[in-house]
Amino acid sequence: MVKIAPSILSADFANLEKDIRSVEKGGADYLHLDVMDGIFVPNITIGVPVVKSIRKVTDLQLDVHLMIDRPIRFIKDFIEAGADRVTLHLEADSQKNIFESLSLIRSLGRKAGLSIKPKTPLETLLPYLDRLDIALVMTVEPGFGGQKFMPDQLSKVSALRAIIDQKKLLCEIEVDGGVNSETARLCVDAGVDVLISGNTVFASADRKAAIKQLRGV
Ligand code: DX5
Ligand code: ZN
Repeated sequence: MVKIAPSILSADFANLEKDIRSVEKGGADYLHLDVMDGIFVPNITIGVPVVKSIRKVTDLQLDVHLMIDRPIRFIKDFIEAGADRVTLHLEADSQKNIFESLSLIRSLGRKAGLSIKPKTPLETLLPYLDRLDIALVMTVEPGFGGQKFMPDQLSKVSALRAIIDQKKLLCEIEVDGGVNSETARLCVDAGVDVLISGNTVFASADRKAAIKQLRGV
């Protein structure tokens, strides 16, 4: 069954605990936290102190998506704050630092993820694949919630699925951006393991129903 990771980017930040509890009760598998620095992406969101506060109010695994320049500088801080899964962007640092970052995450006992933006070819991700627990294919340009799903990214997902299966790797495929009950089906058919969804989950008053509908069961 596909896993669901609600993204709090579309939650009510003044009532964050309440919103987190609603998706926890609604059956979410992970809680997705979007960290943006205004440099790697044209938006600023949350940082280490917020992750630390969220850690205190939920037992959900925190799936931290770092949309920041040279993420190696902050990985240890986010892990100490309570991140269980840390995904950085391939475009955000040198190959050497990305290899180092992935090793650091795993050496601290957490799941290591790498993400690619829509214009980044899948081939660039492949050298890292056997060191990944998570491969995140962006289905919008990173930076904002509520954007339209880019169906041309689905071919990357199916190609990645085939490679992961063929090599018998344990890496989970996540997609992020524009996931609603319709696009979710396309993603699942292409072989996605985890659907990240902000607007669809939090715009719905009934979080449980929204999560169930995304899962398609
Ligand atoms: C976008 C973020 C997403 C965002 C998805 O840069 O990485 O996690 O919250 O939001 P929706 O589901 O609204 O497209
Ligand atoms: Zn995200």
